[in-house]
Amino acid sequence: VECVTAAITPVAVIKSASECGRFGERVMTDLFGDTEPVGPEREQLAPGAVVLHGRALAVQVDLLAAVDAVAAAAPFRRMLTPGGFRMSVAMTNCGAAGWVTDRKGYRYAPTDPETGKPWPAMPAAFLDLAAAAAAEAGFPGFEPDACLINRYEPGARLSLHQDRDERDTGHPIVSVSLGLPATFQFGGPKRSDPVRKVALRHGDVVVWGGPSRLFFHGVLTLKDGEHPATGRTRINLTLRKAL
Ligand code: SIN
Ligand code: FE2
Repeated sequence: VECVTAAITPVAVIKSASECGRFGERVMTDLFGDTEPVGPEREQLAPGAVVLHGRALAVQVDLLAAVDAVAAAAPFRRMLTPGGFRMSVAMTNCGAAGWVTDRKGYRYAPTDPETGKPWPAMPAAFLDLAAAAAAEAGFPGFEPDACLINRYEPGARLSLHQDRDERDTGHPIVSVSLGLPATFQFGGPKRSDPVRKVALRHGDVVVWGGPSRLFFHGVLTLKDGEHPATGRTRINLTLRKAL
């Protein structure tokens, strides 16, 4: 039973995988057979790092509509690493700055190199969720100015890396998962540190900051599947204060 983890009230019974919610979220079945999302359930990954399971479910429709609007103005593209490799993950951005990579290196840019125009504005739904999730994780007052939107298709992966292109790493990272599930790896300050693996499903939010802000992390190769909300893709929003 993959999507069900815990019964939280005495009158509630957790049932089989057939009781998973329409979008694969954790649900609880009560004595009357009604299901409702459980949570948000917290899973601590490291000091300063927590998964808020299901935290984005209530605003999933707004988030996905905003992703479509951003992508209509700044299309997803697979960027080139400084070493000359084409990334398997397709990316776009919104906010005052967007994360880009090409032969010249990694950086934040105020305009989209593909269109020459400023990145689309940060949607309010992104700002609100990021601020709320960060506060719940112990980082009040988070005001992201950059959102990298990652699109994974089956076979895509993101190797272990640190997020270190931001001006001030005193601010946390808020990462929102939508669509197909993925295995997230969360390690330590050194690339060689052991990693903890955690399944990230539709609606999960990860926040890391403070002592774990520069910890290595990555995403294992996406398995094939079909998700009711996104089809054959996983979308990840990574919200940061970059400038
Ligand atoms: C990232 O590290 O930029 C993305 C993480 C994810 O896709 O969950
Ligand atoms: Fe990252």
